[in-house]
Amino acid sequence: MASKPVIFVLNGPNLNLLGMREPEIYGSATLDDIAGQLEDQAATLNVELEIRQSNHEGHLVDWLQEAAADAAQAVILNAGALTHTSIALHDAVKAIETPVLEVHLSNPAAREEFRHKSLISPVAKGTICGFGALGYQLALNAASQL
Ligand code: DQA
Repeated sequence: MASKPVIFVLNGPNLNLLGMREPEIYGSATLDDIAGQLEDQAATLNVELEIRQSNHEGHLVDWLQEAAADAAQAVILNAGALTHTSIALHDAVKAIETPVLEVHLSNPAAREEFRHKSLISPVAKGTICGFGALGYQLALNAASQL
């Protein structure tokens, strides 16, 4: 039997604190809640997920490279604050052919000035932001159709 397409869902710094971190901005769902919703959706879409979180930039770089080496269908990436600072993540996304879908729970453009610039957006396939946890489901829907 042919194996299912794999989609990586990578989460950066502080996203392990979802549910208790600034819920008025990020909502009350934990990362486990979001992962559970995505796994249900993945079963319907007939794709497999690799859902990971790290507070460390290098882990995210390694996992982007791993996604490419594993011929993943796509990566859904919420790089957290590294979105606004990380040339290493920009380069990693640019270096791989795997499409990367950028996700943010909040709408960074409607927040502090320092969140207005994303180093991921120029190299991402597309960006979904401002829809809370639903953004991950929208991204998975799009990723499964690429
Ligand atoms: C975030 C937005 C970033 O600006 C912030 O640093 C985060 C979360 C979001 O999902 O809205 O950690 O990526």
